[in-house]
Amino acid sequence: MEDRSKLSHLRHTNLNTFYYGSPYYPEHWDEEVRVKDPELLAAAGWNVIRMAEFAWDRIEPKYGEFDFSLFDETIERFGEVGIKTILCTPTATPPIWLTEAHPEILRVDDKGIKMEHGSRQHASHFSPVFREHSRRITAAMAKHYADNPNVVGWQTDNEFHCHFSEDHSASAQRAWHEFLSERFEGDIQKLNTTWGTAFWAQTYTRFEQVPTPKRMRPTYSNPAQELDYRRFLDWGVTRFQKEQVDILREANPLWFVTHNGCFYNIDFRGQFTKDLDFLGFDMYPHFFYDPDERPARAAYWLDMVRSFSGNFLVLEHQSGPGGQGGYFHDNPEPGEMRKMAWMAIAHGADGMLLFRERCCRFGAEEYWCGVLDHDNVPRRRYREAAILGKEIAELGPQLLGTSVHQNIGIACCDFIAENGHDAMTLGLPDPRDMGKLVHQAFYERGYDVGVVHPEDDLSGLDVLLVAHLSLFDPLWCERLSTFVEKGGTLVIGARTASKDRNNNVVPDTLPGVLRSLAGVTVEEYGRQNMPEKRPLELSLGNESWVSDLWYEALSPDEGTDVVGTWQSRHLAGQAAVTCRSVGKGKVYYVGTYFTDTTMPRIVNYLAEVGDLPDVLTDPKGVERIKRYNGTQEFCFLINHREEAVSVEVPSGESLLGHTLEENTILLGAYDVAIVRINGRDTK
Ligand code: GAL
Repeated sequence: MEDRSKLSHLRHTNLNTFYYGSPYYPEHWDEEVRVKDPELLAAAGWNVIRMAEFAWDRIEPKYGEFDFSLFDETIERFGEVGIKTILCTPTATPPIWLTEAHPEILRVDDKGIKMEHGSRQHASHFSPVFREHSRRITAAMAKHYADNPNVVGWQTDNEFHCHFSEDHSASAQRAWHEFLSERFEGDIQKLNTTWGTAFWAQTYTRFEQVPTPKRMRPTYSNPAQELDYRRFLDWGVTRFQKEQVDILREANPLWFVTHNGCFYNIDFRGQFTKDLDFLGFDMYPHFFYDPDERPARAAYWLDMVRSFSGNFLVLEHQSGPGGQGGYFHDNPEPGEMRKMAWMAIAHGADGMLLFRERCCRFGAEEYWCGVLDHDNVPRRRYREAAILGKEIAELGPQLLGTSVHQNIGIACCDFIAENGHDAMTLGLPDPRDMGKLVHQAFYERGYDVGVVHPEDDLSGLDVLLVAHLSLFDPLWCERLSTFVEKGGTLVIGARTASKDRNNNVVPDTLPGVLRSLAGVTVEEYGRQNMPEKRPLELSLGNESWVSDLWYEALSPDEGTDVVGTWQSRHLAGQAAVTCRSVGKGKVYYVGTYFTDTTMPRIVNYLAEVGDLPDVLTDPKGVERIKRYNGTQEFCFLINHREEAVSVEVPSGESLLGHTLEENTILLGAYDVAIVRINGRDTK
C-alpha cells in the first residue's frame, strides 16, 4: 500500500503561531480606508491577513508588466502593527488579457459549453498555456516576496473545483489520453480489460479514441471509465498545484503552503494533500439552514476534513450572513459566530480566519457580510470578533500540538469509494451521506465520534463503523482485523466490499474480502424502493422496525452469532445482523443500510450489549469534545442552545473565565467553556 502514514486524523499542523485574522482585499478599498485598517483589525486581535487570491489583474495588469505596489504597501502597513500575511496564487481568476489572447485556456462543461471571463474558475488546469501562465505568475510573486519577513505562507489558488470540476476542453481531452496511457502503462488492452469494454462494444484500439465521459449521450456510460475520469480530474489539479508548490518552496522553504478545500473530485488523502504542509478549509455553517440541525452537520463536516490529514487551518469562517445570487443566510445571532469558531477549533482548527474583513459594496458577493459592515462602522460582529481575538491570543498557542480525541470512528470518506458510487448510485445514498447519518446518531447522544479512514491510525478507537464502502480496498483488511483482534468493535454496513477499486463487481461471494473476518455470507440482496408496500421487518435486541433502502439475507458461519433477524415476507427467520468474536474484539455485519430509521436502533443495541464507550453526560444541545497531547487535555463545552445551562465538567482549570463550582460551570446561551486538565495522558 502507498505510504500515507503522514496523513492521519491525529496529525497537527506544526504551526508555531495560532493565526487569527481574515482574508483582506486591498483592491476593494480606497486609500483612506486602507490606511486605517491595520490598527482597526489589530485592535480586534488580528495577527494575520490572507490576500491576492483574486488579484491577478492588479498584480499583472498587462502581460509581463508587474505592479506589486498595492500589496507591498499593504503587507508593510499590516506588518508594522504585527499582522503577518498569507499570500495566494491568484490563478482562480486569470485576467482578461490572458483569456482574450488564449481563449483555448477556457474550461468546457459536459454539454460542450465554454466558460467565460466574468466570474471565476474559468480556466483549465489541463491547458499547457494556462499552466505556463500559472507558473509565471507564481514565480513572479514568489521571487518578489521571497525575503519579505511579513509573508509567512501561501494558499494555492482558491477552492479548487468549488463550482464544477469537470473539463472537456481540447486540452483536457489530450491530457486524458496522456493520463490513460500512464495509468495503463501504454497498453490499451489493459484499459479494455479493466473497464470491461466488452460490454456494449466499447473496445478501444488506441487511447486517443477514448472520450471523456459525458452524461447520458445517449444513456449511461461505463462506471469504470467514469471513475477513472474522476481520478483524472484529481491528477490534473494535483499536477497544476504541484507546479505552484515547487516554485514557492524553492523561493522560500520556510513558507508553509496550504489550500482552502474541500470540494469535489480531489483526493484529499492523496498526493494533493501530501504536497502541502497541511490542509486549509473554509467553514460556512449557515449553509445548513435549519438551526437545530446545524451543530450536528457542522461537526460532521469538521470531522470529515480532519479525517483527511489531521488538524487544519480555517482560511475562511462565517462571520456574518453570506449572500449571493438567490440566497442570503441567517445572520449569526450574538455569540453564535464566536461559538462556531470555537467549535471549529475544538474539532481541529489550528488557526482561524474570519471571512471577510468587511462587506464589499460591489460584485457578486456584495451581500456576503463580514466582520465590518458596508459603512465600516464597527458594530456587534466586530466587538464579538475582538472578544474572540483576545481569547484566541491567550489560548490558541496552548492548543497547537494537540490532537482531537475520539473513540468512535466512521469510515465513510474515501475518494475512490465515493466517486465510484457516484458513477453508479443505484439510487442509493453515497458513503459520505451515510456517514452523516451515522455520525449524527452518535453525536446527538453525546458520544465522542469522528471520521477515520480505514488506512489511518485506528489505535485510539473502541468502535469503527464502515458506512457502505462498496469499493473496498482489500489492503484495508489486515488493519481492520488487527483493530478487532486488539479489542475493537467493527460494524460493517451492507454492500461493503461488493466492488473492486475499478468499479467492477467482485467475483467473490459477498461480503467478498471481508467474508472471513465477518464470518458471514450474503445469500441474497435487494433494493427496497417502496418499503411501505412490502415491509421487511427486522428485529435486533429489544426493538423491531421496518428497514428501508436495502436488505441482505445472511448466512452465518459456524461460530458467528445471529443477533438480528428478518421477521417478514420471504426473509422471515433469516439472519439480518450477525456478530463474530475475533481475538479480543467483535465484528458485526449489518444486512441493511445505516439509515435514520435503522441507525438509532443500532446505537441502542450496541449500548445495551456494552460495546460503546461512555456517553459524555452533558444535557442535550451541549457538545463536549477534547483536544489532547501527552500531558494535557483541553475539554471544550459548547452550548448550542439558546438558553443558559449548567453542565458538569471534570475538575481542572477553567480557561475562558467561567467559575468552576463543584465541578459545574454555568454556560450562557451559545457560550463556550474550556477546562484544562493537567497531567492526563489521554489516548
Ligand atoms: C468561499 C470562497 C470565497 C467566497 C466565499 C463566500 O467559498 O473561497 O472566495 O466566495 O466562499 O462566497
